[in-house]
Amino acid sequence: MKMKYPDELIQRVNAELAGHQLEGLVTGRGPRRPQLMVVGEAPGRTEIETHVPFCGAAGKELTKSLAAIGLSRDDVYITSVVRSRPYALKHVQDKRSGQIVEKRPNRPPTKREVRAFAPVFDWEVDQVVPQLIVTVGNTALQRLLGSQYTVGAVHGQLFMQPLQRSTNQLTGKYEHAIQPTPVIPLFHPAAVFYNRKLQPQIEADWQRVARYITTGE
Ligand code: URA
Repeated sequence: MKMKYPDELIQRVNAELAGHQLEGLVTGRGPRRPQLMVVGEAPGRTEIETHVPFCGAAGKELTKSLAAIGLSRDDVYITSVVRSRPYALKHVQDKRSGQIVEKRPNRPPTKREVRAFAPVFDWEVDQVVPQLIVTVGNTALQRLLGSQYTVGAVHGQLFMQPLQRSTNQLTGKYEHAIQPTPVIPLFHPAAVFYNRKLQPQIEADWQRVARYITTGE
């Protein structure tokens, strides 16, 4: 159930992003032709250690939301648009020893990093053939549908349009697929850690996902 990406695609990404502050590679996982594919931003530290996407604090929220609509993690394909962990380099003074220590916290991926991983993600969607894609957070939403969208404005809406895809030239531009794919953008599961008031909205949005899965509308 773990995805195996073609070596040449991974080598191309690694060559293009050499020198970027990125580590590891967490593959997407789940069944082929699932009812639902969940697409996040990028793995964090917990995911790099376990090689399991969405297994940290945000992953626990995601698992709860899936359970609320009768799905388990094994029913859905889970991945993100960037497959390595983006980190920042920080030098901070250790309170006890007074020594300067290096920290490597998670950071959001840059547009260039998302673009470099686009051929890998596009290949993955072609393999998985999901009936519905749920993007969680702005990074996945904008990668798939375009930079004009924000999750705050369109969460819980059903989009039926061709996904953005990478072009063969690494120009930074995307083109559009031919076939439409249903997409429902949702808030990132970590959003509630910063704003508890989003909880009812997130639950209502997952009910919208459940409706699509049961009725196809
Ligand atoms: N956030 C993501 O977008 N993906 C993960 O795997 C974990 C946290």
